[in-house]
Amino acid sequence: MDVHEAVTTRRAVRAFTAEPVPRQVLERVLATACHAPSGGNLQPWQVYVLTGAALAEVKKRTAERLAAGDPGDEREYPMYPAALGSPYRERRASAAELRYAALGIPRGDARARAGAVAANWDCFGAPAALFCYLDRAMGAPQWADAGMYLQTVMLLLRAEGLHSCPQMAWSVYRETVAEVVAPPGGLVLFCGLSVGHADPGFRAPRTPRAPLTETVTFLE
Ligand SMILES: Cc1cc2nc3c(=O)[nH]c(=O)nc-3n(C[C@H](O)[C@H](O)[C@H](O)COP(=O)(O)O)c2cc1C
Repeated sequence: MDVHEAVTTRRAVRAFTAEPVPRQVLERVLATACHAPSGGNLQPWQVYVLTGAALAEVKKRTAERLAAGDPGDEREYPMYPAALGSPYRERRASAAELRYAALGIPRGDARARAGAVAANWDCFGAPAALFCYLDRAMGAPQWADAGMYLQTVMLLLRAEGLHSCPQMAWSVYRETVAEVVAPPGGLVLFCGLSVGHADPGFRAPRTPRAPLTETVTFLE
């Protein structure tokens, strides 16, 4: 698979089969992904790879919290700016509308929408997940490094015939992840990444992108 195909076939898959992902495949992907660039070569990411009983435990504990109506842990970072201005607010809303429409969830059905959100904490059924932490001392450039790293992982997963879904949602139940992962003090959970084989029934339409003229300016 060439890079172009990896980029264009990567998408946030939100339904996986239970087919396990072999450890050697995950190791191959992560051994290559470490070539992702980072400012000053800090390589600020700290990644935990969970499969089997470890991931099942995180899912189970999180499901218990959800069932108890637990709204989650104190946020360690804002997922979005408090006042999301235009055009970002519209882009976010239209992506959400498309997603819920594909699931057959009507606009006013808050309960069904909450159920779709809750699927995050089952990793959408994925049998493997990465949890990407950063040292608390790191700033915006290092968080950007972590994003480049995760995109590199996601593209390499495509080359293995696998799909993924990056999930800030895991930061909501970060303490439960930490109970199982036991990261050293001083790390912040940035993002989870569900990994697996896409469920053939996952047929959500592609999330559209803004035209190039909205996001890119050429100067000659
Ligand atoms: C850092 C990051 C965090 C994300 N967090 C979530 C999440 O918690 N749950 C989710 O369903 N999708 C999440 N996404 C997926 C985005 O919604 C998705 O990438 C975007 O809508 C574009 O769709 P596409 O990836 O299918 O092209 C996240 C993506 C990124 C890059």
